[in-house]
This record gives sequence, C-alpha cells and structure tokens, in this order.
Amino acid sequence: MKSYTVAELLSSETLLQEVTVKGWVRTFRANRFIALNDGSTINNIQCVVDFENTNEETLKRIGTGAAIAVKGELIESQGKGQKVEIQVTDIEILGDADPEEVSETVMQPKRHTLEFLRKQAHLRTRTNTFSAVMRLRSSLSFAIHKYFNENGFYYMHAPIITGSDAEGAGEMFRVTTLDAKNPPLDDDGNVDYSKDFFGKETNLTVSGQLEAETYAMSLGKVYTFGPTFRAENSNTSRHLAEFWMIEPEVAFMDLAGNMDLAEDFMKSVLSYVLEHNADDLAFLENRLIQEDKSKPQAERSEMTLTEKLRFVIDNNFKRVSYTEAIDILRNSKPNKKKKFKYIINEWGADLQSEHERFLVEKHFKCPVILFDYPANIKAFYMRLNEDEKTVRAMDILFPGIGEIVGGSQREERLDVLKEKMAALDIPEEELWWYLELRKYGTAVHSGFGLGFERLVMFVTGMSNIRDVIPYPRTPQNAEF
Ligand code: 4AD
Ligand code: MG
Repeated sequence: MKSYTVAELLSSETLLQEVTVKGWVRTFRANRFIALNDGSTINNIQCVVDFENTNEETLKRIGTGAAIAVKGELIESQGKGQKVEIQVTDIEILGDADPEEVSETVMQPKRHTLEFLRKQAHLRTRTNTFSAVMRLRSSLSFAIHKYFNENGFYYMHAPIITGSDAEGAGEMFRVTTLDAKNPPLDDDGNVDYSKDFFGKETNLTVSGQLEAETYAMSLGKVYTFGPTFRAENSNTSRHLAEFWMIEPEVAFMDLAGNMDLAEDFMKSVLSYVLEHNADDLAFLENRLIQEDKSKPQAERSEMTLTEKLRFVIDNNFKRVSYTEAIDILRNSKPNKKKKFKYIINEWGADLQSEHERFLVEKHFKCPVILFDYPANIKAFYMRLNEDEKTVRAMDILFPGIGEIVGGSQREERLDVLKEKMAALDIPEEELWWYLELRKYGTAVHSGFGLGFERLVMFVTGMSNIRDVIPYPRTPQNAEF
C-alpha cells in the first residue's frame, strides 16, 4: 500500500483505492472524525473511522497529539470544506499522547497567546500559525538561493568564528577556549582574555561582508547566507542576538547598481512565495484579519498581507537621499496632533524606525531606498562621496518593518580607507588582508545585507521577530 503525504492526497486528481498516511492527530470528534496533519500542508485530511468495527482500546488512544498511521480509501468527501477524505480501514497507533498532559500544551486546540507558544518553542510548530510561518521561512530561503543561482552568483560560506568586527560597532560575542578553572593570568594576576582562542582574540561574526568582499574581488558575484551574531542588549520586537543574513557582494557594481539588484531581488523572492505558498499565506492573512477585529479602528492594518506583498512587487522603490528625507521629516507630523517621539533637529542624526515607517507608509506610500547617509553614522568601509560628508550607503525601508536591508558601495581607495580606519582607531594589522584587496587590482564594488528574519516577518505578518525563527536568541531567551 503506497504511502502518501496529506498534501499529495488533498491535491490528488483521482480517488485512490488503497492509501497509507502517517501524521499527528489534531482533533478527534464523535469517535468518528480524525483531523490528521503531517506538516506537508496547513490543511488537515479528514479520516472517517468505522467505529463499530474498531476496537475500543484503539479508539481511546486516538487523541490530540498522537502519532498514527491510517490505511484506507480516498473517497469524495460527504462533508463541507474538503473535496476528499479517507474512509479508514485500519489504524495503527505509532505514538500515544496523554490527553491530560496534552491539555497543558500548545497542542490543545484553542487560541493561545504568542508568549505561551514561545515557552513551548519545541511544540509550537504543531499549531497552524507556526507551521505556516516555518514553511514560509523554508520557502523564502529556497527562493533566495534560486534567485542568486539563476543570476550567476556563487554561494560563499563565510566563517562564523572571526578575528574582525565587520561593523566596527563592538557588539561581538567573544569565542573562548579558556579553561575556566585554570585561566591564563597576565602580569597583574588578572585573567588574560587577549589570546583566548588558541592564542588569538576572536568573536562570532557580526556579518560575512568583509570575507564576501574578498571573494567578490575574484569570483565577481557572490553571496553569503548564514547566521550572524550581535551582542547588543536590545529587547525590541525587531532584534535578535542570533539572526540570519543574506549578503550579496558584486565587483564592478556601483551604488545605483546595488539598488537595482536589491529591488529586483526583493520583488523576485516575494513573487515566488505568492505563487508557491498560497495556502499558508491565506491562513496567515485570515489570522491577521481576525486579530484586527479586536483592535480599535486606528490600530488596524491598512493593507492585508497579500496587498502588502503586492505593494512591494508592483511599486517602484522610491530612491531618496538622506538629506531630502531629513527635510521631509522636519516638515512633517506623523498625524494631525502628534509629533514624532524622537525629534530630528539636525542634519547628521540617525533615523528611528518611526521615521522610517512614516516615510514609507504615510509620505511616499511605496518602499523607499534612502541613500548618501552622513559618514559618521555609518560603518568604516563605506565609499566616501565627493562632498566628504556623506557615504554611498543605502537602507531599504518597508511598511511595518522599517529598515529591512542595509548596504553600500565600498571604499575602494587604499589611502582613503586607511585614513578612515585611523580616525576610528581600527588597527591596520587587524584588517591587513582586507586592505590588500585595495592593493591588488582594486575596483568599485558594492553589496548589501538583508536581515532574513525581518523578511520573514514582512511576509508572514508576525509582529515579533521571536516568532519567525525556530529558537530565538535574545538577552532573555536561550532556553531551548
Ligand atoms: O545594517 P546592518 O548592520 O548591515 C551589515 O551588517 C552589512 N555588513 C550588510 C552588508 O552591506 N553586507 O545589517 C543588515 C540587516 C539590517 O538591515 C537588518 O535587516 C538586519 O540585518 N539586522 C538584524 N536583524 C535582526 N536582529 C538584529 N540584531 C539585526 N541587526 C541587523
Ligand atoms: Mg543597518
């Protein structure tokens, strides 16, 4: 008897005489109707049990959360809401789930808070919301690799343990091989942390960009897609201590080319999930609509999930310089009465997410690319403009999210880069290899970083970044 997934059965063109399917029971009603899910789709298949001819012991064990194997015939469904169902001939209990204990978990079929679900991160993909989010996460990841593969990029694996601070922000987790019980001491008798990774000072990477630049300067077009780490103690709904980043880097490409690439890439990836993940998106869209109903009018979303995706795919991204944006913000109020919480008084200040969202959602009403930021609020490696005040940086701003992408054209001139590093106290010895790129056939090159979880938030409509990564790492949470 052939084994099928629930997705295969639900989309089968024909009825089938003999099928087997394995999954977990979502609900069991009236000793007769099992809603079975195996993760292959958001939808359950209904399995109709012939309870008169099934032994009582087995019937008792078919409870929410149990793993079972069902054999039977795929027939046209008598009920509403589904085309087919399984007329069961045989059931095998593969793994029991004690109903009393199940009732304490997220598997209990009722509305749970997201906080409660976070406490059971190991079980939360047994719910529709989280299985949909994680299927979309997987699909987005595939769409990203597909895009780069089809556009001539090589996938580069940047190291996780590194000696450099790519962003120069000092937000690094140290990697240590120190023997905690017997640490090396310096002359003053203090623990010597300076050479704690087999004689070298190292940390977990904050970005694969610098290494990606070395590969771009030989392979031409490369991208990284891996975990990155930031030891910033920020407890916001948009920051994680461990997140995944996608970082393309391209030789002979300037800032305008970088913007073109980022826009085409984002549109392509979003189009992919619209086409391939319709069921999960429809479920999440409906979830948001239901959630909105309990909110006051002013807080309800202006766009549905699909409209938001179409908003990015169908609109040209508006390209605006930092200087223009500051002028707009100074002359704007977010609504009739209120001011921004954080007022931008002078040129040179960094934007907060309230400003970013205002520009996208209220002012331009399309995705925005801000460019040419003040040099002093951006990283050391960005290409200085002729005005010597701004750098060729770009941030892409999305509705509901704010900054989703950060990138730049890189400083390719050895002397300017050295001056910049000196001014910021970055020792040349630390980045000697990075500087060598500017000695041997230097060239204009650019790239950007997309925060993967911010993309998953955008696509799924989840409002907390902890709900789009399997096991979130934040200052308060590393339980699992
Ligand atoms: O703007 P960031 O810090 O830029 C870089 O790391 C560059 N090296 C990228 C490059 O040019 N190759 O980070 C890039 C993106 C942000 O726009 C944001 O989406 C995401 O990474 N990000 C975070 N996501 C979750 N948690 C955090 N703590 C994040 N910090 C940045
Ligand atoms: Mg940034």
